[in-house]
Amino acid sequence: MKKIIIAIDGHSSCGKSTMAKQLAKEIGYVYVDTGAMYRAVTLYAMRHGMYPEAGILEEALKADVDADKIQITFKFNPETGRPDTYLNGEKVEEEIRQMEVSNRVSPIAALPFVRALLTEQQQAMGKEKGIVMDGRDIGTAVFPQAEMKVFVTASAKVRAQRRFDELMGKAKTQEERDALNYEEVLKNVEERDYIDSHREVAPLRQADDAIVLDNSNLTREEQSAWLLEKYKEIVAKC
Ligand code: DC
Repeated sequence: MKKIIIAIDGHSSCGKSTMAKQLAKEIGYVYVDTGAMYRAVTLYAMRHGMYPEAGILEEALKADVDADKIQITFKFNPETGRPDTYLNGEKVEEEIRQMEVSNRVSPIAALPFVRALLTEQQQAMGKEKGIVMDGRDIGTAVFPQAEMKVFVTASAKVRAQRRFDELMGKAKTQEERDALNYEEVLKNVEERDYIDSHREVAPLRQADDAIVLDNSNLTREEQSAWLLEKYKEIVAKC
């Protein structure tokens, strides 16, 4: 069967990665979480003192990007059945999902030199096709020629609740659970929506030829079944 590129874009915390991962597994495609790549660059900047509270030290970050000092890779984890994210050879999968990173990633993702670097890497990953990539600009900027494009959305409140539940599930101690606050998560979701949709380079927007999926009221199983059905319809016509 012909291999295609599947681009899954949409708002933060709307379950894109869960459905993209599931589809990739079902059809034997490679899955790439591009949000994890922006998160890894953010973590790098935070660790190197280039992203203190006051803002981003853009020049310092650009110098390291230009000097090829930020390598992001993925390695399949047989235990979880998903790829883990590595930053310069170190596994950072858990760290990049923390709120400190979530709160800082959007301004980093708006920097043109960061987008140029990651877009180039993503295009290289899709050269052989047979890939499911999720992000914000995959169907518009990274692979405008993708055979299948899906734009996923859900209300901000539903997305904040999902993210809150996910963080709660991952919290290891009572202290970590007490530190979580739904209103704060909602604020983060809304702020990221705003920055992601209003940045100058590759803003989050629906591609004209994308299929829209509002999953506010769908279960995971319903979403997965819907996505697989769409894939079968599209690939049959390719
Ligand atoms: O999907 P996520 O929440 O892990 O994404 C993290 C951030 O990265 C989010 O604020 C938007 C940004 N992002 C982006 O600008 N372009 C992408 N292709 C993927 C993510």
